[in-house]
Amino acid sequence: MKHSHILPLVFCIFFSTFFLSIQARHHSHTKQKHSHSHSHKSYETSPPPPSQNYSNPSNILDVRTFGAIGDGISDDTESFKMAWDTACESELPLNTILVPQGFSFIIQSTIFTGPCQGGLVFKVDGTVMPPDGPDSWPKNNSRHQWLVFYRINGMSLEGSGLINGRGQKWWDLPCKPHKGPNGTTLQGPCDSPIAIRFFMSSNLTMHGLRIENSPQFNVRFDGCENVHIDSIFITAPKDSPNTDGIHIENTNDVKIYNSLISNGDDCVSIGSGCYDVDIKNITCGPGHGISIGSLGNHNSRACVSNITVRDSVIKFTDNGVRIKTWQGGSGSVSGVTFNNIHMESVRNPIIIDQFYCLTKDCTNKTSAVTVSNILYTNIKGTYDIRSPPMQFACSDSVPCTNLTLSDIELLPSQGDIVHDPFCWNAYGDLQTLTIPPVFCLIEGTPRFVLENDISHC
Ligand SMILES: *[C@@H]1O[C@H](CO)[C@@H](O)[C@H](O)[C@H]1NC(C)=O
Ligand SMILES: *[C@@H]1O[C@H](CO)[C@@H](O)[C@H](O)[C@H]1NC(C)=O
Ligand SMILES: *[C@@H]1O[C@H](CO)[C@@H](O)[C@H](O)[C@H]1NC(C)=O
Ligand SMILES: *[C@@H]1O[C@H](CO)[C@@H](O)[C@H](O)[C@H]1NC(C)=O
Ligand SMILES: *[C@@H]1O[C@H](CO)[C@@H](O)[C@H](O)[C@H]1NC(C)=O
Ligand SMILES: *[C@@H]1O[C@H](CO)[C@@H](O)[C@H](O)[C@H]1NC(C)=O
Ligand SMILES: *[C@@H]1O[C@H](CO)[C@@H](O)[C@H](O)[C@H]1NC(C)=O
Ligand SMILES: *[C@@H]1O[C@H](CO)[C@@H](O)[C@H](O)[C@H]1NC(C)=O
Repeated sequence: MKHSHILPLVFCIFFSTFFLSIQARHHSHTKQKHSHSHSHKSYETSPPPPSQNYSNPSNILDVRTFGAIGDGISDDTESFKMAWDTACESELPLNTILVPQGFSFIIQSTIFTGPCQGGLVFKVDGTVMPPDGPDSWPKNNSRHQWLVFYRINGMSLEGSGLINGRGQKWWDLPCKPHKGPNGTTLQGPCDSPIAIRFFMSSNLTMHGLRIENSPQFNVRFDGCENVHIDSIFITAPKDSPNTDGIHIENTNDVKIYNSLISNGDDCVSIGSGCYDVDIKNITCGPGHGISIGSLGNHNSRACVSNITVRDSVIKFTDNGVRIKTWQGGSGSVSGVTFNNIHMESVRNPIIIDQFYCLTKDCTNKTSAVTVSNILYTNIKGTYDIRSPPMQFACSDSVPCTNLTLSDIELLPSQGDIVHDPFCWNAYGDLQTLTIPPVFCLIEGTPRFVLENDISHC
């Protein structure tokens, strides 16, 4: 996640888009009353059609009955909006929007807005795609996000289908790294849409889908609560810029299980304001590994706690498990466990970087997001010898404390062992000997860190 500095702009555009979409919603309602098939109209006013069975009350709304064509050419946005509005207004306990198998639907950037009356299932068994690239993207549509779910409590996004972000033309924009003339990177706005975004929503599950080639982040949660992701497959090429797999921000009570992510940026990235996150049995790579951060950009305050990553595989990535903070922030990262992780040819398997900086001209500052109570246990496998397998680069003014290493065995995937794990201002303990050996952690707790220097969260 590299764009936290543009967040205010994103929000600004988000809300202006949101306003436009409200207008579009009203527009679609009026249109619907005048012109839509009466099966839909009768639904609102007369007894429920046979598919609504009150002894097993569920309501299946096939997008095709709302006029969607699914030929991979027609714009089916309005039909999806109508299906959404109908499902959302239904008082039945469960309403399923069905995107049927064997069809390919093109949808423009859309905000599916709640709150809804009953529970919702968005079942994608077919393919959903956006317009193909920036030139086909309608001028009045947001370029920051494609499918957005906003203010929803109780929804499942599931199915055996495919969400295809068609990212290639966005990745090739001349403003993307080395995509300008002769391998340059041109200046200028470079916004690209996030494929799936949940915003201010709760009690969400995502299950079974394939998501590929997002123009930017594949899936992002902001301000959400109780999120359960299971058996998701995310793919994008390893050189696709900024295609983080799953990003969470200001989101708590998150479970990410049994999923495969290969992409061009972080596999899972955990931003500010996240706590109670459990990540289990995921396979990452290629890409940039699992990342907490970056935190504290522009002197911001960030709090992240109670994060577990376990029983997972990370392979052919730039980083394995990483905590990255900018200088000058405040707040803390605390209570993080990395347990039973297999690394394969990873460039920086274990890394804390409190000097995160994208431009090289960041100045040293005295405040920092503190990093404490981090446990690394049973982390085994191989590393790429271009970097030391373990690096703990902590801030000068606020050291990392209580780092615990146990059962670490990291060997070079090729070439000679790198004997020099790197530590700077890092306090902690070894519970067992490690391979390679680590001698650079400072035992105990730093004397000079006064209780009131630590910014509590
Ligand atoms: C964008 O403009 C088109 C054509 O003018 C209109 O049909 C559509 O509703 C607009 N979309 C939004 C999100 O305002
Ligand atoms: C309603 O659903 C129940 C349970 O699935 C089924 O046994 C029953 O036959 C259904 N009734 C109708 C009218 O479809
Ligand atoms: C690209 O490189 C070629 C050969 O070096 C040069 O002739 C050309 O002017 C360069 N184009 C740009 C846009 O820099
Ligand atoms: C999530 O679901 C639980 C159980 O149904 C409910 O108690 C809770 O209020 C929901 N969360 C929100 C934020 O609505
Ligand atoms: C781990 O996830 C993979 C799919 O991603 C699944 O096939 C496998 O059964 C899962 N393992 C366990 C122990 O659940
Ligand atoms: C940490 O998060 C887990 C869920 O991942 C939760 O079950 C547990 O209660 C949390 N621990 C604390 C101390 O809040
Ligand atoms: C910041 O501090 C680190 C650690 O003391 C040092 O290696 C680095 O050179 C400093 N950077 C600048 C720009 O002063
Ligand atoms: C050190 O961190 C571990 C978790 O990694 C935690 O269980 C323990 O309580 C911490 N110790 C102190 C003194 O905070």
